[in-house]
Amino acid sequence: MQLSGSNKLWGGRFSADMAELALAYSESIDADSPMVAEDIWGSEAHALMLAKCGIIAEEDLREILRWLEHARQEWEAGRLVLLREREDVHMNVEHYLREQAGPELSGRLHTARSRNDQVVTDCRMTLRRRLLDVQEAVAELQRVLLDLAAQHTETVMPGYTHTQHAQPISVGFWLSGHAAAFARDQQRLEETYARVNRCPLGAAALAGTSFPTDRRLTAALLGFDGVEEHSLDAVGDRDFVMESLADLAILGVHLSRLAEEIVVFSTYEFGMIEVHDRHASGSSIMPQKKNPCLAELARGKTGRLVGRLMQSLTTFKGLISGYNRDLQEDKPPLWEALAVAESGARVLAETLRDATLKTERMRELVGKNFATATELANYLVRERGLPFRTCHEVVGALVGQLVKEGRTLDDHERVREILAAQGQELSHEEIASVVDPEACLRRQVSLGSTGPEQTAWLIGNLREALRASAEVTRQRRAALRAARERTAGLVKVVLEGKALAELAL
Ligand code: ARG
Repeated sequence: MQLSGSNKLWGGRFSADMAELALAYSESIDADSPMVAEDIWGSEAHALMLAKCGIIAEEDLREILRWLEHARQEWEAGRLVLLREREDVHMNVEHYLREQAGPELSGRLHTARSRNDQVVTDCRMTLRRRLLDVQEAVAELQRVLLDLAAQHTETVMPGYTHTQHAQPISVGFWLSGHAAAFARDQQRLEETYARVNRCPLGAAALAGTSFPTDRRLTAALLGFDGVEEHSLDAVGDRDFVMESLADLAILGVHLSRLAEEIVVFSTYEFGMIEVHDRHASGSSIMPQKKNPCLAELARGKTGRLVGRLMQSLTTFKGLISGYNRDLQEDKPPLWEALAVAESGARVLAETLRDATLKTERMRELVGKNFATATELANYLVRERGLPFRTCHEVVGALVGQLVKEGRTLDDHERVREILAAQGQELSHEEIASVVDPEACLRRQVSLGSTGPEQTAWLIGNLREALRASAEVTRQRRAALRAARERTAGLVKVVLEGKALAELAL
């Protein structure tokens, strides 16, 4: 399909239409479609600012706002179809105005702005609300983890290093450890949001403009916390995209670690957790199978998050100052990563919430494989005043002997004999109490340890951090809503015929 030159908003300089191949290769309709509402809001704010600064006439403002309002209604009703031959969302909205209100009005709206500042403004506006969606999903996951953790501060399970039994920990300690990582993800997203939510609109193509614009006014009308001041930098850099993707990739790595434990712990060999039937699937050939597919996919989709970060870093490297069309490649990885991270957090929250923790199996495993050996060495240090290395040696020899004999630390009489042979006389009762996993857990008292009191304290701190970050998210949502309502309110009264001078702008 060939377009007539006159149909292009930049047709003047051109004598040939864009080739079909060129258009198909360069249009960004799919990538732009999440930003339509933002694009219209951006145009409203820009028009209000232009009129307030005396750059366009009030009658023109009224007409522009009237048709932008129509465009919004059409979009919300699903009737504004974005046409690929119009390249992107900005041209589609402008074309709509041009068709409805005529080239004169639609042409005035584009004074003192460029698609370069428009697109990055839309992108930041869309990204900020999507970041809040991700934060809400992660908060839900933190809530599930901490609620479960609080019920299990005294339930023992094996703790691992090198994926080998190490020391007893509590289930609450294990789960709250994941919550601690997600709390840092929240911090990162929160800090990134502050850099995302700055307004590039009014930077124009790259150099600013000779019109007496008020960039602070548009920034406020669009709910930004401030202006992204340097015009050349504002249109040419995408560090806010890379930073968001880096946060999401790290979050993805955290999600995959939790997912991995759900997968591994629900194997027959571990048998420490069973996901609900609602969150599992079967095999088409093996009737006995129950597969924890959601957790597997959450683990697998992390590849996309890491990939989208790498993709963006590579796209943006080596670009010269100012807008380059390469920058159009910023949005697809961003939207994909936001969706993958949000759904991953939601899926794992639900999977964990409905899973069964098999605490008897955990208790069985923790007693079987010398997980309390460290505590036995600690006991000898305390009771006998021996250096830790010596006790490590003594207990190491004990474990070596028990392994040879096919016994565990639960064989208290044999433990007593082997220790006595090394000159360490302990009573049967002493041994029983030292190697008991529950008692061992209760003895952990250092700050941040797995002891029930410390774990309860950690959970309390994490709940407080969660409450604080959820409050920031809530306030930011409210601020965005308030800005949207303010702009909508201004549009409404202007359309009702009120003079700009009477408005609090
Ligand atoms: N679709 C473009 C993008 O996403 C919009 C900006 C185009 N600017 C330009 N000078 N061609 O980056």
